[in-house]
Amino acid sequence: MKPIQVGLLGIGTVGSGVFNVLNRNQNEIQRRAGRGIEITMVADLDTARAQAVVGANVKVVNDARAIIANPEIDIVIELIGGYGIAKQLVMEAIAAGKHVVTANKALLAVHGTEIFAAAHAKGVMVAFEAAVAGGIPIIKSLREGLTANRIQWIAGIINGTTNFILSEMRDKGLDFSAALQDAQALGYAEADPTFDIEGVDAAHKVTLMSAIAFGIPVQFDKAYVEGISKLAAQDIKYAEQLGYRIKLLGITKRVQANGKEGIELRVHPSLVPNKRLIANVEGAMNAVMVQGDAVGTTLYYGKGAGSEPTASAVIADLVDITRLHTADPAHRVPHLAFQPDAMSDLQVLPMSDIVTSYYLRLRVADEAGVLAKVTGILATAGISIDAVLQREADEVGGEGSTQTDVIILTHDCVESKMNAAMVQMQALSSVLAPITRIRKEELA
Ligand code: HSE
Repeated sequence: MKPIQVGLLGIGTVGSGVFNVLNRNQNEIQRRAGRGIEITMVADLDTARAQAVVGANVKVVNDARAIIANPEIDIVIELIGGYGIAKQLVMEAIAAGKHVVTANKALLAVHGTEIFAAAHAKGVMVAFEAAVAGGIPIIKSLREGLTANRIQWIAGIINGTTNFILSEMRDKGLDFSAALQDAQALGYAEADPTFDIEGVDAAHKVTLMSAIAFGIPVQFDKAYVEGISKLAAQDIKYAEQLGYRIKLLGITKRVQANGKEGIELRVHPSLVPNKRLIANVEGAMNAVMVQGDAVGTTLYYGKGAGSEPTASAVIADLVDITRLHTADPAHRVPHLAFQPDAMSDLQVLPMSDIVTSYYLRLRVADEAGVLAKVTGILATAGISIDAVLQREADEVGGEGSTQTDVIILTHDCVESKMNAAMVQMQALSSVLAPITRIRKEELA
């Protein structure tokens, strides 16, 4: 049988990986797919560079629409990224009856509802394994492997850049900006690292996982997003002394709030007990924990970015489509794991309604009664304290210092209660600097 014909839009790091792995493993892949898979056209603005990557046998064009218009092409791989031209091209490819494979988490987290509806109406597949956690088959696991389960929660390290920076901060005692410079020098962080360090990339990915886990529409606009750029080296050190590591987690949970079921969807730095496997995921690696009612807790670990790890996910999607494209669309796995007419209207909760525990660091005057005032406010608010660590003033502010750090770990409470208590604590004259608050996840 003639190989299935693939057109590739954008041949950068990931595109080259797809081309190379498909060539290298073509025999193995064909034995799995039941048919050859061949990239026959590539569109890239830099045609000379693209031609050098793919060789003379592949047609290289600078106009992506030439691929979409080609009736020989069965599958379009979109590796352009972003919400602009990539969205137009994906919608045009769907309209032309092409199946689409994309690594574009930003596009799907923001416009997924429209894109999946268009694909469903046209009877084509939009596959996106590479959009979340690179080479880790987490979409496959959530959509198929765990399909028996009522999923309770997901917590993941799904941004390698920030995990690398946090590892550098902990290992070398660096502050954030020095660790970011290291990450940039080693090629882990982009020249403009905003999406990574401010948690946006992780929020795109957890938005997609949340939709698949709970059968809700993608709702990136409802996600709470806080990055790592304000983290201080001393908080990483204090967390360590208390038995925790700080990780940027993408978290989504099905919870009861005010007697109603809702969904938490949030990205922020989190203290994680250092005895959890996920707390020991270091460098640019990714890991995702999924808790299902039948299976219990599962953990998926691997490379979340890079040429061939991401290509591994793209090609898995190509194989799925090759196997399924002649099947009745009703027999395919739904884009968001649940049938389109069986989606849930569970609401994403505002951050003030989430329940978690907290790490607080207060820079205080080292004088009698300060701790009593702080703990009194927490007690009156009904917030239970789990642990308190007070540093020696000399250690914090140098010899003769009259200031010190008080670190408090709390038990679970609703965020609105903590917000109100923090306003009161901040107003104390003996609290000398803005209070640092980092959420804590036990992931038990
Ligand atoms: N920039 C991402 C990361 C990889 O650092 O994990 C692509 O999503």
